[in-house]
Amino acid sequence: MNITVNGDELEVRSPGLTSLLRVLRDELDVVGPKAGCEAGGCGACTVLVDGAPRRSCLTAVAAIDGAEVTTVEGLGAADDLSPVQQAFVHYYAAQCGFCTPGMVVAATHYLDSGGSDDRKEIQEALRGHVCRCTGYVKIIEAVAAARGGNFDLTTTAEGGYTTVMTGDAK
Ligand code: FES
Ligand code: FES
Repeated sequence: MNITVNGDELEVRSPGLTSLLRVLRDELDVVGPKAGCEAGGCGACTVLVDGAPRRSCLTAVAAIDGAEVTTVEGLGAADDLSPVQQAFVHYYAAQCGFCTPGMVVAATHYLDSGGSDDRKEIQEALRGHVCRCTGYVKIIEAVAAARGGNFDLTTTAEGGYTTVMTGDAK
């Protein structure tokens, strides 16, 4: 089997019923998708398969032979974060970060599909993504602000990130 992960076409040697999550993490060393419940209930493992969000823990790799998989790593680079990733930094929308890869992938798909900055709609789009840390408010504010993409990212002397608002996102 072959799958394309973040632009790289890769051969998969795991048995076909192995979950995509386990193939990514254990065979291909793509560890952005997190193993939370591994039962479809938390959203931490969410990736895009041919552009649609999928719970990778529930996806047998044989079922997506030939597909294109995008994980959180494929949405931006360390020195070129996507608008959603930048907004999560700006709003402190990640604390322990365990839910963040799935949240960012789902939020990116929502916005790329024309989703608005309406808080209720964002809440609905992220339904089923469990966060034990943030209380969700910062996450929803980050996604709403990312709608405008109005962030400039700078790197701090310590190697961290800081963002500066450049538009009218609040
Ligand atoms: S690890 Fe897949 S939904 Fe929780
Ligand atoms: S930031 Fe810790 S679970 Fe969401």
